[in-house]
Amino acid sequence: MRVTWITDDKSSPSYVEYGTSPGRYDTVAEGEYTSYSYMLYSSGKIHHTVIGPLEHNTTYFYRCGGYGPEFQLKTPPAQFPVTFAVAGDLGQTGWTKSTLDHIDQCNYDVYLLPGDLSYADRMQHLWDTFGNKHMRVTWITDDKSSPSYVEYGTSPGRYDTVAEGEYTSYSYMLYSSGKIHHTVIGPLEHNTTYFYRCGGYGPEFQLKTPPAQFPVTFAVAGDLGQTGWTKSTLDHIDQCNYDVYLLPGDLSYADRMQHLWDTFGELVEPLASTRPWMVTQGNHEKENILLLEDRFVSYNSRWKMPFEESGSTSNLYYSFEVAGVHIIMLGSYADYDEYSEQYRWLKADLSKVDRERTPWLLVLFHAPWYNSNRAHQGEGDDMMAAMEPLLYAAGVDIVLAGHVHAYERSKRVYNGRLDPCGAVHITIGDGGNREGLAHRYINPQPKWSEFREDSFGHGELKIVNSTHAFWSWHRNDDDEAVKVDDIWITSLVSSRCVDKKRLKLMNILTNPKSLHLSTGGIASV
Ligand SMILES: [Fe+2]
Ligand SMILES: [Fe+2]
Repeated sequence: MRVTWITDDKSSPSYVEYGTSPGRYDTVAEGEYTSYSYMLYSSGKIHHTVIGPLEHNTTYFYRCGGYGPEFQLKTPPAQFPVTFAVAGDLGQTGWTKSTLDHIDQCNYDVYLLPGDLSYADRMQHLWDTFGNKHMRVTWITDDKSSPSYVEYGTSPGRYDTVAEGEYTSYSYMLYSSGKIHHTVIGPLEHNTTYFYRCGGYGPEFQLKTPPAQFPVTFAVAGDLGQTGWTKSTLDHIDQCNYDVYLLPGDLSYADRMQHLWDTFGELVEPLASTRPWMVTQGNHEKENILLLEDRFVSYNSRWKMPFEESGSTSNLYYSFEVAGVHIIMLGSYADYDEYSEQYRWLKADLSKVDRERTPWLLVLFHAPWYNSNRAHQGEGDDMMAAMEPLLYAAGVDIVLAGHVHAYERSKRVYNGRLDPCGAVHITIGDGGNREGLAHRYINPQPKWSEFREDSFGHGELKIVNSTHAFWSWHRNDDDEAVKVDDIWITSLVSSRCVDKKRLKLMNILTNPKSLHLSTGGIASV
């Protein structure tokens, strides 16, 4: 028999010790090894070692490379009867897992696999976006003939509605994505659990729609990545009773290795298939290769947000409303100066905000404007110079950013100074990425900075009513989330700041400087 295993350690030897009693290896076989590279990926050391001659129908105990756990194997019989287990197209989904469980329980001698071992993807990655009683369900199939419809209903297994969707795909160097399906379902009832299935087969998922009015709870964590810390952040978010997840950029850390977008989808699917996940881009979503026009091709293809629904022309910035909250997702990596399309769109969006219907106004983007960590110092300055006056005039309550791998919360601040009508700025780039934490701070702590800590964690924002919200930050401490920072925040509507600034906002919104762009960019004529 050939025993194959893989080690990260390139100096690890290729021998197998084995015998017929546990822990007693009376024979050693030397093997060979290989490895390969695929674009930016380098495999571990792949060891292949042939052991034998072995007795038939006998259990052997063995260990690989002189350390690690003991395994056991049973050799096939010399004659009939002999049992084969057979299953092809394995993949690595929940279905795979249960197939393997069942095979494990049957008393087979040899497993025959007719092709397609690891299948880049037969599985479905799902995440939802939310916009006006609708949700977008996204999933990916390897099968290019798989249809893009979603069946759904409010009882398990009974789908009384079917929504047809669309699909896309992309290529990136040698990588070709699966078929990426985007299907909008709705109108949906608020605060209701729906059961749904994608493409007419596969497992049933369920999602809960957000409430129509307060209270509403947001979970927040940026810079997720796909590490052990990510996993524990996601576990903690899963345990908190949230309605919508807000992610201020840096999702998969694929950094051009496209299969990492697929594994990220698999990692977040258990959460992202059950609640709306609303994201904006970080610098790690920007994947340039020469001659490629769309620098966000993977992100835009996979994480399609309701930008068209909010009058934006780019997936990099959009807005949506949930309960009594208007949320604006800005793009730190799209043009933002006052002649830019993003700035024009932001003004148009702010002019539509109705503070009676949505008394709370939140903004998210990636690179923070208020940051007393030494990491990424000053990276948000240009965007802040361009856009902070506009957000201030509009009476934005809370700004959430990521990028800095730590947590920091400001007092209400504007233009670098404490201001009771400014926004609370929260940096929460602490989801669990592979680059680690940002430990160095500027001292003394600036006056505007109220709390800062270099730990992984997540935030919860519970908007209780039109005047009060409760913000808390939970550190990933061992296996448990420990609440370390919390504060009641009162809305700027209730402190009359919004009323006071109404005239100023009207002046900015009707400022002709950025109206030129909307008529075709002939500003200098
Ligand atoms: Fe990051
Ligand atoms: Fe970042």
